[in-house]
Amino acid sequence: MSASLPSIDETVDSIFGTVAYTATEIRQGLIGRRVPVDEENPSGETQLEADVWADQLLRKRLSSIDGVVQYASEEEDDCHDCGSLEPGLAVAVDPLDGSSNLKSNNVMGTIVGVYDEPLPARGDAIVAAAYVLYGPITTMMVATDDGVTEYELSGGERTVVREDVRLPAEPVVYGVGGRTPDWPADVEGYVREIEDELKLRYGGAMIGDVNQVLTYGGLFAYPTLESAPEGKLRLQFEGNPIGYIVEQAGGRSSDGEQSLLAVEPTDVHQRTPVYVGNESYVDRLESHLS
Ligand code: AHG
Ligand code: MN
Ligand code: MN
Repeated sequence: MSASLPSIDETVDSIFGTVAYTATEIRQGLIGRRVPVDEENPSGETQLEADVWADQLLRKRLSSIDGVVQYASEEEDDCHDCGSLEPGLAVAVDPLDGSSNLKSNNVMGTIVGVYDEPLPARGDAIVAAAYVLYGPITTMMVATDDGVTEYELSGGERTVVREDVRLPAEPVVYGVGGRTPDWPADVEGYVREIEDELKLRYGGAMIGDVNQVLTYGGLFAYPTLESAPEGKLRLQFEGNPIGYIVEQAGGRSSDGEQSLLAVEPTDVHQRTPVYVGNESYVDRLESHLS
């Protein structure tokens, strides 16, 4: 490897440093961008000005990092090749997760998965992943093979607030997306079982709900639906990065049968059912669905 090539760790740190200071701008820039544009994203969902703007900002900045060779986003049809430096890393971005919460001024997030294979890639090609949570405080959860660290973001700077984040042993909360009548019987049977054990926490932005699970322990699901057997969430931009983060925090992820990180990708925008949380709850979920 020539001296000019950054190491994988250096590239990962540049990516997350860039996301941290860009997040401050994204949060500020939400003001005045709460309206829909006359476009749909590749998943057929109406885009908000904020979705498009956050994506453009992140693509410009992340694509120019040495060592990043591919940028893909939930908001764009195609992957962008942005360099030929090897060993290159590919970034898969959900620029604004839960953007339907913008109208109601509820929490949202930004998700970044860093893969060491060309996209679409299996989740076990992820070398690092992070999400930003635009909550009362802007925080960032960063996972690498060394574990999970939580930062507070302010003025573009990152301050560590929690190291070695682990799912609490005693689960407390759950959240399940979709409408009850749209849940297949086995999903509904599982929900009916856990609703007697856990407190309902569902806010309409995966990142807000997953952050509750990482903080209090429990389960988040956007399940297979009668109307959408593959569920709603995207494997490359949501399922894999969040599955990696939760597994690095000592939990489990599943598409109903296997770890999300083992799902063979066929398309960069493919959807997948998503179940993440404490191992005991994900194991039980898989038993219900088998
Ligand atoms: P995005 O805004 O990136 O499309 O993500 C929205 C997703 C996810 O954040 C959340 O869990 C789910 O959509 C909520 O879906 P419902 O509105 O059907 O509850
Ligand atoms: Mn999303
Ligand atoms: Mn999004």
